[in-house]
Amino acid sequence: MDRIPVAGPWVTEAEVAEVAEAARSGWYENAGHYVARFERDFADYIGVKHAAAVPHCTSALHLGMLALGFGPGDEVIVPDITWIASAAPLAQVGATPVFVDIDPETWVIDPASVEAAITERTRGIIPVGLYGLTPDYDALRAIAERHGLKILEDAAQVIGSRYKGKLAGNFGDISVFSFHGTKLIATGEGGMLVTDDDDLFERVSVLRDHGRTKENFKNFYNTELGYKYRMNSVTAALGAAQLARVEELIGRKREIFGWYRDRLGGMNGVTLNAEPADRFNTYWMTTAVLDRDLGQDTQSLMAAFSERGIDTRPFFHPMSKLPAYADTPSAQGAETRNPVAYDISPRGINLPSAMRLTEADVDRVSTALREILGG
Ligand SMILES: Cc1ncc(COP(=O)(O)O)c(C=O)c1O
Repeated sequence: MDRIPVAGPWVTEAEVAEVAEAARSGWYENAGHYVARFERDFADYIGVKHAAAVPHCTSALHLGMLALGFGPGDEVIVPDITWIASAAPLAQVGATPVFVDIDPETWVIDPASVEAAITERTRGIIPVGLYGLTPDYDALRAIAERHGLKILEDAAQVIGSRYKGKLAGNFGDISVFSFHGTKLIATGEGGMLVTDDDDLFERVSVLRDHGRTKENFKNFYNTELGYKYRMNSVTAALGAAQLARVEELIGRKREIFGWYRDRLGGMNGVTLNAEPADRFNTYWMTTAVLDRDLGQDTQSLMAAFSERGIDTRPFFHPMSKLPAYADTPSAQGAETRNPVAYDISPRGINLPSAMRLTEADVDRVSTALREILGG
């Protein structure tokens, strides 16, 4: 029996043709064409003024932190539950992450926990869309405005997701996306930074090109030290062709979740991803959290699935619990401050959500879960 993958893209001949064309023609007078087109298409799709294509979302986050002015002595609030990339570049700019709790129902950053973490050194918030669901942006924006904070929206996992009808990517001073091979739009590695702010965009444009302004593009004349964070034509061609199919890709993710909901939705002790009335969840990653009474933990569940040829991933560990942060001030007291993160993480699991999954695959995963839980 084939192993069922946890994540992976859906690439058609349309994308292959675009990539081949870019490999053939994305040079000389066409050198900037594919990146510029992907940036324009992406900005139009999200409904924002500017987009900058970059090598990955991690570089977009780094650029966002630099452009927003997060630096030494600043505290920036991040949910304890996310991929480490949401916080790691803070170390590169010298700012301190402050890990806060998640909401027990939606698993995304809890505005009350954000409010409680604010000090006179707080400069910004990095809210993270998780597994396809956006945070409560009205509450977060109100807090940011009350305290003069910048929002760097990490929308890596929420391409196509909506909050009160508006697409993710519209809620940050700067917002960032990932096109990693596991994401809804996949280019292998790739990312996008978007903003409505002309000055922030100008700053990002210079920083991502070794401190070179547009006027100096052909003149090897750098006005400051920056970074080399630019996307290439072939990647951009793949991204644009995937973007042209975004509704189909979202439809497939929701279809996969629907298959799981039909089989596991009514199961005692199993909670799947939430979709509050004010949000549209793309269900990028179908995730199950098991009641404590079932006596299962994520690591043994993963092993049991693996024995049955099924690939899964753990619900994110609280970052404050990772060896990477264990000895830093950010981790001190986090377990007490973030009880929900510490409670849910060890009993949550990402179920296979790859684009190529069939209903029969989901059936196999659901049957395996029932079997593991003892019927
Ligand atoms: C929430 C979140 N932020 C940031 C990233 C980083 O994205 P990339 O791998 O494109 O750097 C990821 C990737 O998994 C992510 O899930």
